[in-house]
Amino acid sequence: MHSSARHSHGAANEAPTKGLTMRGGWRYDLHGWFIDTFRFRGQGRELRRRTAMLAQLRSGEQVLDVGCGTGTLALEARKRVGNAGRVCGIDPSSEQIARARAKANRHHLSVEFQVGVIEQLDFPDQTFDVVLSTLMMHHLPTPLKRQGLSEIARVLKPGGRLIIADFTHKKQRQGQGARFHAGGSDLQDLVNMVTEAGFAPIETEEMPPLRFSAFPGAALIRARKS
Ligand SMILES: C[S@@+](CC[C@H](N)C(=O)[O-])C[C@H]1O[C@@H](n2cnc3c(N)ncnc32)[C@H](O)[C@@H]1O
Repeated sequence: MHSSARHSHGAANEAPTKGLTMRGGWRYDLHGWFIDTFRFRGQGRELRRRTAMLAQLRSGEQVLDVGCGTGTLALEARKRVGNAGRVCGIDPSSEQIARARAKANRHHLSVEFQVGVIEQLDFPDQTFDVVLSTLMMHHLPTPLKRQGLSEIARVLKPGGRLIIADFTHKKQRQGQGARFHAGGSDLQDLVNMVTEAGFAPIETEEMPPLRFSAFPGAALIRARKS
């Protein structure tokens, strides 16, 4: 899943960040499908399905997907909020954003995909009802996670919902997995950071590692801006 990951220091049309930027566009999607189907036994798709369910998106809501990659979840969100709603997706990689736009066009769905970074969201205060983030937090070093969470709190409306789904169990990972997931946090660390950013109450749900699969285990957090 990480054949084309790199720290971006401002490559052409790419937003500079200390996070781990993904590239590859359609190749990333193909590789991701292969890994999810044959190594994770569909747990990646299940994680996005659960994220959309937990968000309880309603018609007309405004939604932001941070670290949207090639846009799969943002497109699902668009179907759920309908024509009266608005969905935006940001990612530092221009290649992933181009792929996300192509998918939106193919499905005749209007989603505003932009090159951008969680640490500096290009939206006014209190814009969104819901912010989503899947498999992205482990791409960020801890200070950037804190900065990103405070940016999310800024762009959410009072009472707005934040749903984070990410790999956990950092300590159990080894080899290449550990290297690429160096930013992975224990669930409790992530909950503490979300609390510090001004969210309460916070609910959590775990997806344990699956037997006979390489799926490393994940957790979902649902939190409300106080
Ligand atoms: C594993 S991918 C997940 C993509 C998508 N959310 C999904 O579930 O398929 C992680 C994404 O986080 C993005 N990313 C890395 N640093 C970031 C940052 N500072 N701000 C926003 N996104 C970032 C990467 O470019 C990558 O597309």
